[in-house]
Amino acid sequence: MDDTCHLYTDLAWLWPMWGDASSVYAHYCRHVTSLIEQHAKRPVNTLLDIGCGGGKNVLNLKRQFSVTGVDLRPTMLAQARELNPECSFFQGDMRTVRLDRKFDAVLMDDAISYMSCLPDFAAAFQTAYAHLKSGGVLVATPDVTTETFQQNRTSVTPATRDALDVVFVENVYDPDPMDDQYETTILYLIRDHGRLRIETDHWTMGVFSLDTWRRVLRETGFEVHEGRYNPGEDEYTVFACVKTR
Ligand SMILES: C[S@@+](CC[C@H](N)C(=O)[O-])C[C@H]1O[C@@H](n2cnc3c(N)ncnc32)[C@H](O)[C@@H]1O
Repeated sequence: MDDTCHLYTDLAWLWPMWGDASSVYAHYCRHVTSLIEQHAKRPVNTLLDIGCGGGKNVLNLKRQFSVTGVDLRPTMLAQARELNPECSFFQGDMRTVRLDRKFDAVLMDDAISYMSCLPDFAAAFQTAYAHLKSGGVLVATPDVTTETFQQNRTSVTPATRDALDVVFVENVYDPDPMDDQYETTILYLIRDHGRLRIETDHWTMGVFSLDTWRRVLRETGFEVHEGRYNPGEDEYTVFACVKTR
């Protein structure tokens, strides 16, 4: 099956309904902020969110930092700008983008999962490194690692807004556990005034072991620290990576 990208293009209007910026994202951002404060070897005023999507993390992080966002998709950047008009946003690919400035901190959240091979994964961290000032911190959180991946895991998230009822059904599946990739398939059940429309998305994503994360981050030049993030039933490893030179 070919990859699609409706959620970040023609169906991007669904994104604000999937995950509340002021609860789920706020909780995660408090954790990110405390890691930055704990590990930074310089005052932290500026933060770059790479793969900022619709700007839900930015909405929370801008309380502490002056935030800039980068994302591949113009439709997502438009949402991020609407939510955060006082912040700056740029279109770019996390593997190659180079802005003309450096930051005290960088966040790489779930968008890193779109790095579906080792060279792309390593290139994304080189981008983070290139945008950090000496003493600054990258916070990166794997959505899944080889250790935490659950074959055929399926989540169902209903959401309602005005006359719109949407159910997001997300399934992850790894057809070949020997390689670095897995599949995410999403089913959108969209009822507008009760009329049903069904849409789908399908992505090839990257999954790497914790040892690969550690190795690639160290080879990029970072001093690597690890923490745990427990938002509910799941536990995530969070990497706080310091640029020491
Ligand atoms: C789940 S969304 C991120 C949501 C974000 N954490 C927020 O706060 O709203 C994933 C984002 O990764 C972006 N993305 C995927 N591949 C990318 C790449 N190569 N470079 C930059 N952004 C990318 C997508 O465009 C999408 O907006």
